Amino acid sequence: MNEKLWGGRFSQKTDELVEKFNASIDVDKRLYESDIEGSIAHLKMMAKESIITQMEAKILVEGLLKVKEKIENNEIIFSASLEDIHMHVEDELGKVAGDIARKLHTGRSRNDQIALDIRIYLKKETGTIMDLLVEFQKSLVRLAQKYSDVIMPGYTHLQRAQPVLFSHHMLAYYEMFKRDIQRFEDCFKRMDVMPLGAAALAGTTYPLNREYTREILSFAKVSDNSIDSVSDRDFIMEFISHAAICMIHFSRLSEELILWSSSEFSFITISDSFTTGSSIMPQKKNPDVAELVRGKTGRVVGNLVAILTVMKSLPLAYNKDMQEDKEPLFDTVDTLKICTDIYSRMLEHIEVHPKRMYEACKQGFLNATDLADYLVSKGMPFRHAHAVAGRAVAFALNQGKELNDLSLDEFKELSDLILPDVYDFIAIDKTIARRISYGGTGFDNVKQAVAKAAGELGL
Ligand code: ARG
Repeated sequence: MNEKLWGGRFSQKTDELVEKFNASIDVDKRLYESDIEGSIAHLKMMAKESIITQMEAKILVEGLLKVKEKIENNEIIFSASLEDIHMHVEDELGKVAGDIARKLHTGRSRNDQIALDIRIYLKKETGTIMDLLVEFQKSLVRLAQKYSDVIMPGYTHLQRAQPVLFSHHMLAYYEMFKRDIQRFEDCFKRMDVMPLGAAALAGTTYPLNREYTREILSFAKVSDNSIDSVSDRDFIMEFISHAAICMIHFSRLSEELILWSSSEFSFITISDSFTTGSSIMPQKKNPDVAELVRGKTGRVVGNLVAILTVMKSLPLAYNKDMQEDKEPLFDTVDTLKICTDIYSRMLEHIEVHPKRMYEACKQGFLNATDLADYLVSKGMPFRHAHAVAGRAVAFALNQGKELNDLSLDEFKELSDLILPDVYDFIAIDKTIARRISYGGTGFDNVKQAVAKAAGELGL
């Protein structure tokens, strides 16, 4: 005889190694709160529908609250023989409330129970993550406000391209993280579906009032198909894929901060409290936080591949493979939360060096496009103007000069349309001021964009 909760049809004991292998308690114990919340709702619903008595429900609800307290006070020893959090809670309820605890699982299976638990858990965590992302966006926008008129080189192919405002660059990240938040908001809707009542897969013979359970647990709707209810992990795949995209955004920002804080760039200084030293090279100040965030992106992308691979080819309905959904999910939640939180703080401790950024704009012909635009303003077709500006760059390179250093005579050699007003036209500040197209780096545009972002964040 096997003494497991499911042991009735078994005549032999579970192999010890199988017990260890099968158990998920080390991982899913963090679902205890959601599990108990779901069970309490189930009990209240069963009492309302007279599947159990009001008195039984009262005893069991009180018992579950006691179990919760015991877990929080570390008074429960988790063991592989009880497999998972569901069985631990039920077993403990038995100790607290007696045999009546065996009524808790009426009309329910661990299959719909776990589907419910993860949804309760993930709805909360998604809310927390969205809040953290908003805080992070605030740090981004505060940085943009603080250095609103600072000019830096904008890059393509990591080659200096055209001058842009540092604040404009920061707001590019604001937009990326805004989309991340929208993605989480969107997948929240599909998380917000109550699966309990699907039981093992086919629904149940008890007159469950699923609508009432939904109401108690504040879900937006009840799931429509019992087989789908216990088979579906789309909401986890979606969540992790959104998290992976979000981490990739953090990773790109990290890469820039790492580059910018190098002596080669010297665009920014990250404060001592967010950098670390080297055990051998006394001069070193390493951007470890940014590097670690970039590195941790790897594990979240890995988690996405893991969950997709677990789900691929699974026949309906529940399969034990799905127990493997939790580690990648929990790791993703933990990683994204800490990375977002630490980033909000780190950004508050970044010092920008406007002079260095401005100097960098002076080298590398960042105003070559503007020289072409100048010629266009004098009536030359853009393709020709592009060619003339290209020749100007080649000529200046040869002379070891920048475009601004060319004499008027030298300019005239290239095109007689060029007049003394060219110098003002291609001055760095002017190149910014002229970027007037909506969404561009022009001073007014960016000022409005910063104000808009600040307004959206209530800053
Ligand atoms: N620990 C299981 C999981 O996380 C709970 C569901 C188990 N269901 C079952 N029929 N064995 O997936």
